[in-house]
Amino acid sequence: MGAFGKDFTSLMAFSRYSDNQWQTPSLQPLDDFKLTPASHVLHYASTCFEGLKAYRWADGRIRLFRYRDNIKRLRASAKALCLPIPDEALLDTMIKQAVLAVESEIPDLPKSLYIRPTLIGTETNIGAAGRASSEAYLYIMTSPVGDYFSGGIRPLKLLIDELNMRSTPTFGQVKTGGNYAAALSSVIRAREQYGADQVLYCPQGNVQETGAANFFVLKSKTLITKKLDGSILPGITRDSIMQLAENQGFEVVERDFTVKELISWLPESEAFLSGTAAVISPVGHLIHNNKTHAVGNGEIGQHTLAFRKQLTDIQHGQAEDNNSWIT
Ligand code: COI
Repeated sequence: MGAFGKDFTSLMAFSRYSDNQWQTPSLQPLDDFKLTPASHVLHYASTCFEGLKAYRWADGRIRLFRYRDNIKRLRASAKALCLPIPDEALLDTMIKQAVLAVESEIPDLPKSLYIRPTLIGTETNIGAAGRASSEAYLYIMTSPVGDYFSGGIRPLKLLIDELNMRSTPTFGQVKTGGNYAAALSSVIRAREQYGADQVLYCPQGNVQETGAANFFVLKSKTLITKKLDGSILPGITRDSIMQLAENQGFEVVERDFTVKELISWLPESEAFLSGTAAVISPVGHLIHNNKTHAVGNGEIGQHTLAFRKQLTDIQHGQAEDNNSWIT
C-alpha cells in the first residue's frame, strides 16, 4: 500500500444527473471517464467531496462510521455550490454499493477503506460563470489506507500562518476542492521552508484549523476548539471527540481564541488534529514568527493518545458503540 490516497480499489459506484434526474447508479471499473474540456467543473470549480471510512472488524464483516453525517454534509456542500443535490437514499445506496463491491479488497485493521464520494458539475458551458451546472457526475471511489501522516503516530509540527486563510470566511464549511487548492501553496512552503507537517491557519491572529483537519487544545481538563462559524469544516471526527470527551467529564469549549492565547497555554497543554484521514493526530510543536514552541514537552500527549484509542476502539468494534455511530 502506497502513500495515503494513492491506491484505489477496482470499482466505483457512478451516477449521472441530466434532464433533472439522477440515473440509476451502476458499478464501473475505477478508470478514466469522459469529460469535455468545457465542463463547468474544470473552469468554475463546481466540485465537492466527502471522506469517510469502512472497517473490516474481527468477525470479518464490514462497518461504516457515521456515514449518514457525511451524506448530510455532502448535500450541504452541493447546495452551497449550486450543484444538483443527490437524495439521501441515492447516496446511501451508492456508498454501500461501492463498499460491498470491493469487499475482498478491504484491508484488515488497523487499516481501513477510505471512501471518497465526489460530485462534479459536468455541463458543457464556459459561459456559465453566473449559472449553475445543470448536469453532474456523482461517483464513490474507495482506497485502502493506513496512516495519513507518514511515519505513523508522531508529534506533528505545525506552522502558524497569520496571513492566509484556508477559505473565504463562509466557505470553510463547504468541502470543496477550491479550499484545498487555495491552501496548497502555504502548505508546500511550510513543508519546504520549515519542515512543518501542516499549516495552522490563523488569519489576523485567530486560530482556525489546518488544511486537512480540525485543531484542538487540551488545557488541564478543558478541551478547546474553534466554534463553528462557517469558516471551518464541521468535522465529524471533531464532533465525535467532543462527545467522547464530554462523557468523560472534560469541559468542552467551542470558542474563538487567538495565537497569543494559544502560545500562552502551550507549556501546560496537549494539542491534536482531528479528521477522517488524520483520525486524532498529536501536535508536538508550533512554529510562530520563526520561533518553535513545544506543546507540553513536545511529545505525544497521554490524553490525546487516550482519545484516539477511545475513538478507534469504537470504529474497530473493540468498544461499546453507545452513540449508534456504527452501521
Ligand atoms: C478527510 O479527512 O477525509 C479529508 O478530506 C482530508 C483530506 C485532505 C484527506
